[in-house]
Amino acid sequence: MSKISQVFHNFTAQHYEAFRMSKERILVIGSSGQIGTELVVELRRIYGQDNVFASDLKADDGSHAGPYVQLDALDKNKLFEIVKKENITQVYLLAALLSATAEKNPEFGWKLNMESLFHVLEIAKEGHIKKIYWPSSIAVFGPTTPRVNTPQFTVIEPTTVYGISKFAGERWCEWYFNKYGVDTRSLRYPGLIGWKSAPGGGTTDYAVHIYHEALKTGKYTCFLNENTTLPMMYMPDAIRATIEVMESPADRIKTRSSYNLAGMSFNPEEIAVDIRRHVPNFSISYAPDFRQAIADSWPQSIDDQKATEDWGWKPQFDLSRMTDDMISNLKNIIGK
Ligand code: NAD
Ligand code: SER
Repeated sequence: MSKISQVFHNFTAQHYEAFRMSKERILVIGSSGQIGTELVVELRRIYGQDNVFASDLKADDGSHAGPYVQLDALDKNKLFEIVKKENITQVYLLAALLSATAEKNPEFGWKLNMESLFHVLEIAKEGHIKKIYWPSSIAVFGPTTPRVNTPQFTVIEPTTVYGISKFAGERWCEWYFNKYGVDTRSLRYPGLIGWKSAPGGGTTDYAVHIYHEALKTGKYTCFLNENTTLPMMYMPDAIRATIEVMESPADRIKTRSSYNLAGMSFNPEEIAVDIRRHVPNFSISYAPDFRQAIADSWPQSIDDQKATEDWGWKPQFDLSRMTDDMISNLKNIIGK
């Protein structure tokens, strides 16, 4: 069995053959970030290196194994040029300001998060792209939402700029699907944790930093308090969910705004205890900052039954399995 089919448990060898034969040409916008770095590698493994175009605001640093183009997601003309020139069939739009950064720069956060989405939706509406992936977030939920096992359909009153932009984006994705048949697919990611790339300015970033600091210094000062339970997910699960929702037959995608997605939930104290299985003297202290208020407005856990029912979603990593994998991989990088 290939490595890919072990990871993607509900795709068979025939599925992979079909993906290879499908002649999809994929553009990933915002490919140098936390998710893009890992997503591009998986997409290239599935669709072939030359069929997946990485793109980011950042200049090409020569580290890319396949095609790379420098692109500002706000530059609709250049985006359109690339779509036409490279015969792009699918776009994964990852460029965005995340919760903490957007809260500090609300005007630009709104501009980037909304305008980039409109550019892609409009180009798809004209028939130039077949399918769009655009990530939403648990940040769509606010303090009036039920916080435990937050349902797919519930009160949604986000109180952050980022959450407002994600909620608006969800409504637009659904509207373009209903009105023009644009094939939009989206997941409400929890906080994502991985060892291959650094997080980019979110409220859940502590859950990545904590592993690095545990191995480097044996201690960590957390910007959220010890009881702040949030929904989280290990990156391999997130990448698999992303590709699974994109590869599911269109009639199985019944929610065209965005799907709830769950992996695990924990607070800083619980992750610290788990890390001590590997770093027994690890110590954590707390200095909550402005991100505490953001975290306090978000759910503690997510009900993702709709994703399970519609396209078979099932997470594979819990906290202890994630910690084992994070620590063993980071040890190789950090050299401990
Ligand atoms: P990130 O900040 O790590 O990466 C974003 C990338 O976009 C960066 O490489 C940045 O250089 C690039 N970028 C910024 N402005 C750009 C522009 N104008 N044009 C082109 N590229 C630009 O973010 P991420 O964690 O990889 O998140 C990707 C998407 O997933 C975002 O929409 C984010 O809201 C969503 N999401 C992420 C998480 C998470 O925990 N990482 C959780 C929920 C949702
Ligand atoms: N991890 C993201 C953030 O904290 C959630 O969307 O911004």
